[in-house]
Amino acid sequence: MDRESQKNDLEAYWMPFTAQRQFKASPRLFASADRMYFKTTDGRDVLDGVSSMWCCNAGHNRPRIVEAIRKQAGELDYSPAFQIGHHKAFELANRLVALMPGTLNHVFFTNSGSESVETALKMAIAYHRVRGEGSRVRLIGREKGYHGVNFGGMSVGGMVANRKMFGTLVAGVDHLRHTHGDPRNFFSKGEPEYGVELADDLERLVQLHDASTIAAVIVEPVQGSGGVIVPPKGYLKRLREICDRHGILLIFDEVITGYGRLGKPFAVDYFGVEPDLVTTAKGLTNGVIPMGAVFAQAKIYEAFLQGPPNAIEFFHGYTYSGNPMACAAALGTLDTYEEEGLLTRAATLAPYWEKALHSLKGARNVIDIRNIGFIGAVELSSVASEPTKRGFEAYLKLYEAGLLCRTTGDTIAFAPPLIAEHKHIDFLVETLGKVIASID
Ligand SMILES: Cc1ncc(COP(=O)(O)O)c(C=O)c1O
Repeated sequence: MDRESQKNDLEAYWMPFTAQRQFKASPRLFASADRMYFKTTDGRDVLDGVSSMWCCNAGHNRPRIVEAIRKQAGELDYSPAFQIGHHKAFELANRLVALMPGTLNHVFFTNSGSESVETALKMAIAYHRVRGEGSRVRLIGREKGYHGVNFGGMSVGGMVANRKMFGTLVAGVDHLRHTHGDPRNFFSKGEPEYGVELADDLERLVQLHDASTIAAVIVEPVQGSGGVIVPPKGYLKRLREICDRHGILLIFDEVITGYGRLGKPFAVDYFGVEPDLVTTAKGLTNGVIPMGAVFAQAKIYEAFLQGPPNAIEFFHGYTYSGNPMACAAALGTLDTYEEEGLLTRAATLAPYWEKALHSLKGARNVIDIRNIGFIGAVELSSVASEPTKRGFEAYLKLYEAGLLCRTTGDTIAFAPPLIAEHKHIDFLVETLGKVIASID
């Protein structure tokens, strides 16, 4: 095969989370992106309705980020991650902890949300061990939760399709019940009224396993990939209380809620609940260079600082932890967020967004609409025996109509870049309304 035909051959690339045959029969290819829009290879504009994959919070082709990466590549392209440092990693950690409330004031760098989750789970188990509570090894996740695709995250996660193919997973994991599906909560605006008592499920698991065996509970403050499931009022506070009662660490997976999605820098501020560990990625670098960050409370970091001073305290890390290019991209991203007020802009957009999205109540097959901050989802009823059919059809039709979304089952999710204006919301809702009306 010559170079030219090689370029256009789609066969060799095994694509992630993609229907290979459908895609390769009719590919969707982007050529460029600027601010709110992609340009396809056939020259069409597609509005980015979901910050690509909940990550391009400042939109695309942002000058501060582009320039930071360019400059960094010519200055210090790589620096070893272990036993050596470079200034930007420390600067970034300092800027991040300044954004995070409470005592979550240490940061460990990773390269993705999945790695952030593995890191936090390992920190939690090791933390108990270094304090002499080595029996606390059990991890609690939640049904419908998504914590990435590595073994720990997949095990605490609760999305069946992501788990069923991969054997027995990590041992010693249990799950809280999910909070989705109470008909009294359908079409809730923001946090739903009913279901705070579902947090008491943690007490049930404590009764079953005994607190002395449980290291940590991990939840997404708002479940994203599981279909935009907003926590009932008071639910996260109650989880915190139960964790405190039993010496269990609470981990918030803020891979999608972090960096302004809810109208505050983090869900920690939004819900006024301080967990012990927070996992982030995606919006940290505006999605431009892979990077994640785990925030740890001072008590966790400090617990590890024992033994001889020249001994490594935590046997964990990645070749690309704190990678200079990623740090430069993250600093450029934080500059952009700061200059444009993007970490709180969702709060300004939220009322317009909520009203626009809920105008689709009553549209064909729509059984629920959910929103919080600058996130929203429309759930369609499933075709009997063919769940996901309507959702995928909506995805393809929206793409053809110039709008990018994400779907989970028959739920269509949106989380547009935080630079969106009302006209983008209007186009999104109008296009969505037309597409929904066209689906049987
Ligand atoms: C809450 C949450 N955790 C973890 C991940 C995994 O992140 P990544 O795909 O960067 O590994 C995601 C990705 O969507 C996520 O939404």
